[in-house]
Amino acid sequence: MSAAAHSTSLVVSGLSAGYGETDILQGLDLTVPPGRITAIVGANACGKSTLLRAMSRLIQPRRGQVLLDGKSIHHLPSRQLARQLGLLPQSPIAPEGITVADLVSRGRHPHQGLFSGWTRADDEAVAEALVTTATDGIATRLVDELSGGQRQRVWIAMALAQQTDLLLLDEPTTFLDISHQIEVLDLLTDLNRARGTTIVMVLHDLNLAARYADYLVAMAAGRLHVSGKPEDVLTESNVREVFGLESRVITDPTSGRPLMLPIGRHGMVEAAG
Ligand SMILES: Nc1ncnc2c1ncn2[C@@H]1O[C@H](COP(=O)(O)OP(=O)(O)OP(=O)(O)O)[C@@H](O)[C@H]1O
Ligand SMILES: [Mg+2]
Repeated sequence: MSAAAHSTSLVVSGLSAGYGETDILQGLDLTVPPGRITAIVGANACGKSTLLRAMSRLIQPRRGQVLLDGKSIHHLPSRQLARQLGLLPQSPIAPEGITVADLVSRGRHPHQGLFSGWTRADDEAVAEALVTTATDGIATRLVDELSGGQRQRVWIAMALAQQTDLLLLDEPTTFLDISHQIEVLDLLTDLNRARGTTIVMVLHDLNLAARYADYLVAMAAGRLHVSGKPEDVLTESNVREVFGLESRVITDPTSGRPLMLPIGRHGMVEAAG
């Protein structure tokens, strides 16, 4: 078992990156707090997935850099990077005809040496990931034939099996019903507490983001708009600036964290009488 001996640091500085000629990220700076849970929020198309791709080397920066423990990720061997940093992309595509157990086993590839084959540690990591995500009961099923929520939990299992110090997850709760959303966020919190795994996740649900994150990052138009403690970031003025939405922010009576109530055009209580 590879308990995190230390918390890996991940720092993004002056990062500009995008697709073709277009820069989506525009000089973005972000220091991910090591050993903590960071949630990234922001409007559709503001560049959240692009940031996660740049942080995991799926796209090259045009300017600036991404530093893992002080070293540019672009100079690290891929296998070493994959042992330290795991990514669950927004819409992952499974190879056709693959079973759940086989897909989750792929999370172990970075751990296989050139000459050493599959080991007991690999078996244990896969079994643990299946149990943790409650996908052990569907281990022999084909991934293609699962429901959206089951499939999402299988991908999370694969990311867990990779046992990295740092885990980047792009909307890990998509397709999940509310109890499975909470279960996934609880299990990521367990992982963070038990192993010191640094978690960075993109979430659309601002209230779940504020509840589970130690550090909340709000992006707008390819830049970091504001970041900090959830109570400093999830405010009525920031919701207005980032999402163009009027809201009330109150204190969640169960967690003490901020709770945002959107005010739509039809959302106001009619005056009595
Ligand atoms: N492969 C690509 N090629 C060209 N443009 C892309 C590509 N992927 C994303 N973009 C563009 O980059 C911008 C940012 O996309 P990105 O996926 O980072 O947004 P996001 O914040 O993750 O949005 P969402 O909340 O909808 O997932 C968008 O304008 C999008 O159209
Ligand atoms: Mg996205």
